Amino acid sequence: MQNFIRYNPTKVIFGKDIIDQIAEEISPIGKKALIVIGKGSVKASGLYARLVSLLNICGIEHSTFEGIKSNPIYQDADAAVKQAQSFKADMVIALGGGSVIDTAKAVAMGFYVDHSTWDFYLQKTKPEKALPIITILTLAATGTEMNPFTVLQDTENGSKRGYGHPLLYPKVSYLDPSFTTTVPADYTAYGVSDLIAHCLEQFFGTGNAPLTDLHTSAVIRLAVNYGLKVKDHPDDYETRANIMWLATNALNGSLTAGKNSGDWACHGFEHSLSVLFDIAHGAGLSIVFPAWLKFHQEKIAAKLAFLAKQVFDIDTGNELDAAKAFIHHLEKFYQQINTPIRLKEVNIDPSAKTAILDNFKLNKVNGQVYKLTEADHEALLNLMW
Ligand code: NZQ
Ligand code: ZN
Repeated sequence: MQNFIRYNPTKVIFGKDIIDQIAEEISPIGKKALIVIGKGSVKASGLYARLVSLLNICGIEHSTFEGIKSNPIYQDADAAVKQAQSFKADMVIALGGGSVIDTAKAVAMGFYVDHSTWDFYLQKTKPEKALPIITILTLAATGTEMNPFTVLQDTENGSKRGYGHPLLYPKVSYLDPSFTTTVPADYTAYGVSDLIAHCLEQFFGTGNAPLTDLHTSAVIRLAVNYGLKVKDHPDDYETRANIMWLATNALNGSLTAGKNSGDWACHGFEHSLSVLFDIAHGAGLSIVFPAWLKFHQEKIAAKLAFLAKQVFDIDTGNELDAAKAFIHHLEKFYQQINTPIRLKEVNIDPSAKTAILDNFKLNKVNGQVYKLTEADHEALLNLMW
């Protein structure tokens, strides 16, 4: 087992209608909130109006930055920083999915500086202060509601990058599963794919940590069960609640106890697909992960055999057969929930090969444990068609 620090300062408030008590948490924080929202779902669902009326009741002034796109861009974060500065915000409230929350995190650290938020992602500088971040999650997927990470992109230069800093842990996160019942079937499935990918990335980290491995496989097993169930019962509260809490736990530090932080090559490859073709993060991951698993299957056969047993009750006696069976069942599951497993399903054809390989090279996507060279990229990519 490797040395580790387990620290997570985010206060999670989970359950139905819990935002009605939002004043208790945020009144002591400040008086002026910048609200960040996406392209309209929270207006259509009535959640935005509900938040605004709660803030009005407790006397918190607010200004709203609207229009964050899925696969968010740093230019929106920079514009939201300017709005927060001129409004003199003393907190940021993110109402939305991962894209909105990640932008709000950029705003929180960008508020105190006079350069672009993108400089943080380029590792040119680090924040010394950040505004308090409050999140109201509307889509179960990324885990950003309980972690210190944010991911933005510079579309023109083909770069989607993550940044992590302890100042970016949300101060309070409200998780009401009923807010996710309006998420369409495709994004619900992409969320399940993303949370499983987070489990897998960390599972392939180094370090002997049996409790963490069992925990990780249990999260995947439950994600498969509830991922299938939510397809037929999108309004079922218990199903949505379980998916929401699984997604949070998949990337809040629980699954790295006793291990290094994971491999993360698949996230790197997926970020290339998202920045080049603007596909949904979870859709990209269900294409990239099976390819990566197949590429490494001999090296990781024992680990895959463990997952085959824990997740799908497969016990063939032969490690490599079990490994292949795990990959096959994972692909079958992705197909059952209608998340793509091949590039052609998202209309990316082989004529894009050079552009994709160039982007992998530009962003130096190689992974941290099972390292890939540039020479491996093409073979890996071929497994995605
Ligand atoms: O923009 P609106 O209108 O709000 O619509 C969104 C968007 O179209 C919609 N949506 C969200 N909640 C909804 C809803 N529609 C109906 N009802 C609701 N309750 O769903 C669409 C996708 O939203 P988005 O926020 O983009 O999805 P997600 O939560 O999957 O976030 C994806 C982003 O997070 C990054 C990804 O790279 C991607 O940019 N990630 C962030 C991580 C982190 N900070 O820790 C880790 C992840 O690995 C990931 O990289
Ligand atoms: Zn992810």
